Formats: sequence, structure tokens, C-alpha cells
Amino acid sequence: MTTTSPAPFAAETGSPAAAEFREVTQRFGDFTAVDRMDLTIGAGQFTTLLGPSGCGKTTSLRMLAGYTRPTEGRILINGQDATTLPPEKRGLGMVFQSYALFPHMTVAENVGYGLKLRKVGRVDREAQVTEALEMVGLAHLARRKPRSLSGGQQQRVALARAIAIRPTVLLLDEPLSNLDARLRVQMRSEIRRIQSETGLSVVLVTHDQDEALEMSDDMVVMKSGQIMQQGHPADVFSAPANRFVADFLGYENFLTTSQGITLAIRPEHLQVQDTETDAVDEALNLRATVTDVAYRGVDTLLMLRARDPSGEEVDLLAETRGEDPGRYTPGDNLTASAPRHRLVQLGDD
Ligand SMILES: Nc1ncnc2c1ncn2[C@@H]1O[C@H](COP(=O)(O)OP(=O)(O)OP(=O)(O)O)[C@@H](O)[C@H]1O
Ligand SMILES: [Mg+2]
Repeated sequence: MTTTSPAPFAAETGSPAAAEFREVTQRFGDFTAVDRMDLTIGAGQFTTLLGPSGCGKTTSLRMLAGYTRPTEGRILINGQDATTLPPEKRGLGMVFQSYALFPHMTVAENVGYGLKLRKVGRVDREAQVTEALEMVGLAHLARRKPRSLSGGQQQRVALARAIAIRPTVLLLDEPLSNLDARLRVQMRSEIRRIQSETGLSVVLVTHDQDEALEMSDDMVVMKSGQIMQQGHPADVFSAPANRFVADFLGYENFLTTSQGITLAIRPEHLQVQDTETDAVDEALNLRATVTDVAYRGVDTLLMLRARDPSGEEVDLLAETRGEDPGRYTPGDNLTASAPRHRLVQLGDD
């Protein structure tokens, strides 16, 4: 089948690879949904694929799960070539973007479905179903039908169903998107807990940066079928590789230096002072005019217009805390500044 070289190690994490994409391309007609993607998913790691709608997240997950065959390239699972293996032979558990449970089956039957397909005997099956339901805190609802459960409970059943087969890798496609904000936050930590208790390799797809930052060991930012950056959330957040990643992670301010280098600054790191002399120690000092003020309770947003070091007119956004909201009004002149360590130098997209 393939060479039997040992599984390589995930670049950022140093753990062996649970799965790998090697130059994987997926085309639909003329359209390239995934473009020569190389990706290593670390074993026992929580990996997230993060990116805007249509960037190829679901397509990547479906290729990993075996529901779609790559147009080009190879997919390895546990170091073995799995490119042509059917889904049921890959040992993966998947929770889909719409997590449809079987309405006519009980919770326990839903959770045991994959085990039955895999011809696991009744006694083992019941034990594994109970274990999976206990893990998601729903053992007491085993005999219920899905329609009598809340959205969050149904979500957990879908999760238990995927865990029950004891997958090599658990694939989750926006599993929290149908939940309200509170439940979503609660489920995030529950999924994280299950992952760390079981040591499962998890790949979660999301377009929510907070979810990715909170949950992952390894974060993969995608754009138009390509990986823009991969790394620990804290590293990606503090040092986005390019403007796309910075933009996606909430950097609002982009400036060009006199040497033509692009700098990004987070709105919470842009400080404002009334006078120029207050800010002489800062690496960046720009005279700016307030164009708009938005009071938001915990902070006040100041929209500013300034000329950047290259001479271009730029719009800036400063998030000020503990400032009297009436302190600034449109037309005010002030100094926008930032210390050197808050200036993030960007590469090309
Ligand atoms: N079967 C298909 N036939 C044609 N185009 C497809 C097919 N599946 C996906 N696409 C296209 O490929 C691109 C990537 O789709 P994909 O579902 O992977 O995006 P996504 O990142 O999961 O987005 P979302 O966050 O909206 O779920 C989209 O432009 C989509 O329209
Ligand atoms: Mg999708």
C-alpha cells in the first residue's frame, strides 16, 4: 500500500500524528474547495479548524472521515494510508453540523447504533453505551426519545453516539452552533473535559474564534481552502502571521511604517492621550482625530482618523476602559499610542 515510515510528529505539539493530510486537494468542477493542504493532527490533541464560512472546513473533515475522496493527495490515519478506505473502516467518530438523531430510537439505541453496525455484541454494547452516556451526564435519560430532550441534551446524545465507538479521532463539525450562548459555553468545557479525560484526538470545526481559542491545543486558521497559520492558540493570537489571520482574530488597526512594514494593533492596546508629550516613551505615537464614540458599558470605543508613519490616512479603533464615556467627542484631537511589544509585524497573506 504505502511506505511504512513511522508517524511523523505534529510540528507545534511534539506529539505523534493521529492523522495527516498530504498535499490534499478537493475540487468540485472548476472550483477548488481545498487547495494542496498539508496538515498534521497531533495524537491526543484538541485541534480546531477555524475559518470563515466556505473556507473548506467541512470539506476537509469529510475527506478525513471518508465521506468524500480527495481529488488529489493522500490522507493518513495513525500513519497508515487511508485515502481510499470507506468511512466505517477508519475508526473515526463524527458529529455533523446538523446532528440529526434517529427520532424513532431511544437515546440508548441512538448511542449504540454505531456499535451495532460494527457488530459489537449486546453485553459489550450496553456497557459502552452506558459509559458514553455517563460521560456526557445523560445515563438517566437512556430510555427517552430524542424529541423529549432539550437541544443541549440532544447535542450530548450526538456526542455520546460518536464517543461510544471509541474512535481513533473524534470529528466535530460545529457541534455547538444550534445551542444558545450559555449552553454553548457550558458544552465547550464539557467537551474539553471529555477530551482530556479520555485522551482522545479531537478535530473540531468552528468559525467562532472564541471557541477555537478556548478549546484548542492546536489551532488551524483556514482561508479559501488553504492553511494560513497553525499553532497554539496563544501563539497565533499574539503573533498572527498575516493580515487575514489578524483580521479574523479581532485586530482592528493596520498601519504601514515608513519602511513599508505592516503593523497590527489590537483595539484594547491602542492608548489615547490628550497631549503628545504624555506619550513620548511609546514606540508608536500618532496625532489622531476622533470621528465617532460608542459607549458599550464595560468600555468605550473610539473611532479615530490618523495619518500612519507612511503618510497614508487610516481609520483606527481604540477600546478604552475606565474612561468617562463623555470624555471624548467627535472632532477632538488626541494622541494614539502603543508600546513596542503591542505592535505586531505581519507577513504577506
Ligand atoms: N458537493 C459540493 N459541490 C460543489 N461545491 C461544494 C460541495 N461541497 C462544498 N462545496 C463548496 O466548497 C466550499 C467549501 O465548503 P465547506 O462546506 O467545506 O465550507 P465550510 O468552511 O465548512 O463553511 P461553513 O462554515 O459555512 O460550514 C464552499 O464554497 C462550498 O460551496
Ligand atoms: Mg461547514
